[in-house]
Amino acid sequence: MPVEDPTAPEIRRLVEDMIETMEDAPGIGLAAPQVHVPLRIVVFFVPEGRAGAEGGVPLTVLINPVIQPFGPEQALGWEGCLSVPGLRGEVPRFTRIRYSGTTPDGDVIERVAEGMHARVVQHECDHLDGTLYPQRMADLKNLVFESEIRHHLSPQAAEESAE
Ligand code: NI
Repeated sequence: MPVEDPTAPEIRRLVEDMIETMEDAPGIGLAAPQVHVPLRIVVFFVPEGRAGAEGGVPLTVLINPVIQPFGPEQALGWEGCLSVPGLRGEVPRFTRIRYSGTTPDGDVIERVAEGMHARVVQHECDHLDGTLYPQRMADLKNLVFESEIRHHLSPQAAEESAE
């Protein structure tokens, strides 16, 4: 459900709860439906040094987010999800997107994103439509246990996975 008033105090409280849940997990993103609230809100950040976000992306709150891909180009990358515990999967995502959303202060954020940054935003916004990353996977052979992925990939690559 769209949020009618992004600046409402109860929305700010919900966002604070979501950030706490994300940090406790620990994860790098969370969507409101993951805490059983059917509203279109996501929170995320991208740690410094991740692909496509060299300086990192600070903690961002997007209310009623909208995503537009720049083109059809997609890339595979490993993802994990707090709602799919213990697993990792290789998921195709648009490599470059434009996205927008409103903050709890009522400001509008508009950004262009690529790589890991674009991947996290697409992953989190999928939650708003009830879509989990395995549903995006072309090949479920690449849905593996977290413990298994560490044998197959460098620690760096395993570390790249999103929430
Ligand atoms: Ni997720």
